Amino acid sequence: MSHRPARRARRATASPLFTPHGTDRASRKDARRRLAEATTTAHAAAAARPAGTEPADNETPAPLYPASGRPGPGSARGNRLRLPTHCMTTAIAAGAYPFLAEGGLGAEGIYIGRDVHAEASFVFDPFALYGKVDGFTNPNVLLAGVIGQGKSALAKSFALRSIAFGYRIYVPCDPKGEWTPVAQALSGTTVALGPGLPGRLNPLDAPPRPQGTSEADWAGEIRKRRLLLLGSLARTVLGRDLLPMEHTALDVALDTVVTRADTDRAPLIGDVAAALNNPAELDKTAGAMSGRLGDAARDLAHAMRRLVHGDLAGMFDAPSTVAFDPGAPILSIDLSRLGGSGDDTALVLAMTCASAWMESALTDPDGGRRWIVYDEAWRLMRHAGLLQRMQAQWKLSRGLGIANLLVIHRLSDLLTAGDAGSRGRALAEGLLADCSTRIIYRQESDQLHAATNLLGLTSVEMHAIAHLNRGRGLWKVAGHSFVVQHLLHAHELALFDTDTRMQ
Ligand SMILES: Nc1ncnc2c1ncn2[C@@H]1O[C@H](COP(=O)(O)OP(=O)(O)OP(=O)(O)O)[C@@H](O)[C@H]1O
Ligand SMILES: [Mg+2]
Repeated sequence: MSHRPARRARRATASPLFTPHGTDRASRKDARRRLAEATTTAHAAAAARPAGTEPADNETPAPLYPASGRPGPGSARGNRLRLPTHCMTTAIAAGAYPFLAEGGLGAEGIYIGRDVHAEASFVFDPFALYGKVDGFTNPNVLLAGVIGQGKSALAKSFALRSIAFGYRIYVPCDPKGEWTPVAQALSGTTVALGPGLPGRLNPLDAPPRPQGTSEADWAGEIRKRRLLLLGSLARTVLGRDLLPMEHTALDVALDTVVTRADTDRAPLIGDVAAALNNPAELDKTAGAMSGRLGDAARDLAHAMRRLVHGDLAGMFDAPSTVAFDPGAPILSIDLSRLGGSGDDTALVLAMTCASAWMESALTDPDGGRRWIVYDEAWRLMRHAGLLQRMQAQWKLSRGLGIANLLVIHRLSDLLTAGDAGSRGRALAEGLLADCSTRIIYRQESDQLHAATNLLGLTSVEMHAIAHLNRGRGLWKVAGHSFVVQHLLHAHELALFDTDTRMQ
């Protein structure tokens, strides 16, 4: 015989016979009697029921009390519990209850996924937050996390989902070529650069003059940009800063080439290299300047030669094969065929040229809102010239309606830009400071202190970033913290998959 009471009997007995503290003996005796009666009734009902007709587990029991609630002292409505009123501000309340989840960033923006603590949807739009959230001073985003945690997938979701908001996406550096399927899916453009490929970009292309800018002002602006670009290229190849005479030589060589070039063709880097390689003409053009400019430009001439005759030959020394289409939803520059040998210089030079070409086209303040994604940017951190270009871009972001997204592995990648106090280090730290949004995916345990120091994380946050799963990140948005699980649609999963070769 089974001694287990029937389910209905178990459910029917316990609650009504609960006797609150302070009841007298008679009541307790009465409760015991009713329990015995109820048990007998339940057993009888179970025995009378035909086999196989047991009540379902999820059957709702009949209400035990009237709608007005439980009667008697067990109702706890005796009005005897009186606590003094305590008033506090919400700021103090948050301190008293430190585990309250953040209230979210509002409902306006791109859907990202689930706010893990608040169990709510999480949306984010740097343009919508600007001016609405205290301390949100710029739209730039830093995204850091160890390999394979879903950083690129998040960046691609930003891109894909932003299209619905009318934003455009530019990827000036795609060292793995993983943005090409995304660009194809969005009917955008990809320019693939590499030895043997037909793609060509002339970084000295002049962008169209924005409305309201005078011809003279615009010519001055273009000259400034070209000089900045040539300076960065030279610095990267030489691995050092330029000397004052080298700056002058670049200046003079560029002016010579621009005056000589046909009006319908933009000057080429090869033209500048040839001018630098002609000391007699440089000296002649420089006029009464002290010192021999031609001799001072010798290193520069060799540096420029790499772009014309070296491993990057042709790629950036010919008229562009694609015209910049400001209306295209997405434009990516695939550099996956470059820099695979571990020497990043080719990649950095290509990146410098490609970003200069793209940035010159981005100067139109009426170009709408745009994302610029620097995927795998950790590879670029060691090059002060590139950091300087990026910093200029960062500073312009608000004025031009551009949100920069910088993707790195570790926070200490920022420290590889140089020793403490060096120019590279200052530039990298400046980039971090100019990112109001920092998204931290999982970090290795030896990186936790660097992350904590650089981002000012709490000990709870530090612990959290060591244990994040794929697609889950700590979002620090201008002082607000969230842990967000990025949710991918099945189509996105298929499109963003970078694991295929591992399976
Ligand atoms: N939120 C997510 N949910 C499910 N799968 C995801 C998620 N995010 C990324 N993945 C999958 O994880 C794999 C790796 O993602 P991804 O390439 O974005 O990582 P990563 O951090 O950019 O890596 P790396 O540092 O090597 O560039 C991809 O195949 C992607 O489909
Ligand atoms: Mg990636």
